[in-house]
Amino acid sequence: MVTKCLGLLIGDEVDWPDTLEALLHRLGNRIEYRGKSYDINVRRLRIRPFSLTAPSRYDLVIDRLAYWHFAPREWLKKAALVNRTYLLNNPFTFQSMEKHSAYCAMIRLGLHIPETWLIPQKVNPDTEKFRRTAALYHEHFNLPGIAEQVGYPVFLKPFDGGGWRGVTRVTDLRKLHEAYNNSGQSLMHLQKGLADYDIFCRSLAIGPQVISLHFQPEKPHHARYKVDHNFLTPEIGREVTTITKLINAFFCWDFNSCETIHKDGIAWPIDFANACPDVAVTSLHYYYPWAIKALLAWSLFCLVSERPVQIAMQPQKYFDIADSERSYDEKLAAYEKLADGHFQREQFEEFRQTSLAGLDDAMLDLVQAPEFDTILHNTVEATFPRHEHGMFFAHYRGLLSLWAQGQQPQPEAVEEEPEAAPEAPA
Ligand SMILES: Nc1ncnc2c1ncn2[C@@H]1O[C@H](COP(=O)(O)OP(=O)(O)O)[C@@H](O)[C@H]1O
Ligand SMILES: [Mg+2]
Repeated sequence: MVTKCLGLLIGDEVDWPDTLEALLHRLGNRIEYRGKSYDINVRRLRIRPFSLTAPSRYDLVIDRLAYWHFAPREWLKKAALVNRTYLLNNPFTFQSMEKHSAYCAMIRLGLHIPETWLIPQKVNPDTEKFRRTAALYHEHFNLPGIAEQVGYPVFLKPFDGGGWRGVTRVTDLRKLHEAYNNSGQSLMHLQKGLADYDIFCRSLAIGPQVISLHFQPEKPHHARYKVDHNFLTPEIGREVTTITKLINAFFCWDFNSCETIHKDGIAWPIDFANACPDVAVTSLHYYYPWAIKALLAWSLFCLVSERPVQIAMQPQKYFDIADSERSYDEKLAAYEKLADGHFQREQFEEFRQTSLAGLDDAMLDLVQAPEFDTILHNTVEATFPRHEHGMFFAHYRGLLSLWAQGQQPQPEAVEEEPEAAPEAPA
């Protein structure tokens, strides 16, 4: 018997860690893989001083905190380098490769990135050295001219954005000045706005697993993900899946989301450097079970297959494809092969079907159990004001029950007695 320790690095969220632990518990905290038995312990990380040579009890850490919390981020780097701990995500490439680098890399790989300019910051650091450099080398520039050349509407947003911080949709000169004046010391992108688009898609990816969801950014938080199964054609569905896997394999990110805007038959990725994206039940609702299963499955695979943590990127093999004479579709197909190889897709799928054959039933069972009601209650209470608790509990319960119903085996169709077609979920 081998024991593996799965660490959770989290902030104030309770929903997905509680659900993940409950799901693993239903699997007996035990996995059989290629003739060996593994006991899996889960522990939540605590933040304290650490010696750089300290051993680590963790074999893998799922991290939702270190992107903005710096002591644990440095602990993660120590754990990867000194203790060989596997990390979801890679803090080395997430720290150095922000939204801007991700745009640049995907432009090089031939994806359709909306025209984007980097604009020097409005407010410079208040130091004599900086002032002298600015006087010598900073050129005056014509921001309205750039916006006009790109064409309104444009988006002004931080080059390393996240969580919609500092994002402004700009439709005219007055708004442009206002947004830039408000940007302070932030380095900004000015990006072509894709107006009147057909669909906004958010793909969530964990290892080689990708789910693409119909996202409605204009709606309130609880209603942004629409329950909608066929909103992309199979071809476009395949394209966004490939783009998402490509980005993650290229940057060695295991847990990320990719936003694409679809307009006039083209998929435009606009935001795809989202370290450890939101997987809260209050956002994902109907799709939450998919996310938790995917997170657990990939973590367990990495643990029992002893997948080594890959710290550095290997961009050249992607650039070789980018620089070849292939068409867009041929390049995507070649990237997909590399990405599937990076994520050991075949080996993972075999693991999912054999070692985790009981995972789907365990999740279905959990979602229908009183234990899950408790998790939902706790989350709703922590997220919404008191007078909305009842309404939101019913809202999420309803959506998760709808998911559970959809997982039940459907009765076989009998030709002589056609029944009304079941309604598509709203
Ligand atoms: N080029 C664009 N065209 C249309 N909408 C955009 C564009 N860029 C951003 N948006 C809108 O602004 C939101 C936030 O921008 P995004 O780049 O996703 O920033 P963040 O990284 O903060 O999430 C997006 O969800 C989308 O609704
Ligand atoms: Mg975004």
